[in-house]
Amino acid sequence: MKIIGIDGSPRKNGNTEKLLKKVLAGATEAGGATEFLKLADLTIKYCQGCGTCRATGECVMRDDMDRVVDAIQQSDAVVLGSPIYAWQVSGNTKVFMDRLCRLLTPKYESRLNGPKKIAFVYTQGNPDADLFKPYLDYQEKVYPFLGFTLAGRIQATGTRGKEDILAQEATLTKAYAFGQNLGAVSK
Ligand SMILES: Cc1cc2nc3c(=O)[nH]c(=O)nc-3n(C[C@H](O)[C@H](O)[C@H](O)COP(=O)(O)O)c2cc1C
Repeated sequence: MKIIGIDGSPRKNGNTEKLLKKVLAGATEAGGATEFLKLADLTIKYCQGCGTCRATGECVMRDDMDRVVDAIQQSDAVVLGSPIYAWQVSGNTKVFMDRLCRLLTPKYESRLNGPKKIAFVYTQGNPDADLFKPYLDYQEKVYPFLGFTLAGRIQATGTRGKEDILAQEATLTKAYAFGQNLGAVSK
């Protein structure tokens, strides 16, 4: 039983990273084994669109995405974090999403090696929690298509300064409880 946190925020120890780590702390407390990966610390090149991975399951580029996919395959649940950039997920997160193409066979069957949940952590400067809901609902649809089961979303709003999330006790508590539940059900 393992939960992997993947952080798509380029900012080190910013709001997204803090909130995502809170979820992982809850999962750890519940007995889960957790791992944290920050996409900005890894070398993950843009998808070249060659299509090779669809046939083989392997990307022609050898970079840290191999390590990320291995970690996903060894996990029971993924928690993917992203700040909202220009009304969307961050560029790091989108490049990661593109590189997940290898998880689909030519017949659009999933290459995930077993059932896996995926949950999301988002932070945004705008105080309106519903503003990006249609977009977030839409962009998350790719994950069931890849074979994941959607497991929920934790969202923080109004986080502009790097430490702003620390003043949002209710959101941090919610993230921890969410992680506890994820860790427990993933056992
Ligand atoms: C390039 C950039 C674009 C952003 N675009 C938006 C946006 O469209 N809507 C919004 O609410 N916040 C936006 N923000 C604010 C971030 O989403 C917010 O500060 C977030 O908590 C940053 O996460 P971090 O602390 O992990 O870096 C933007 C921030 C940056 C740096």
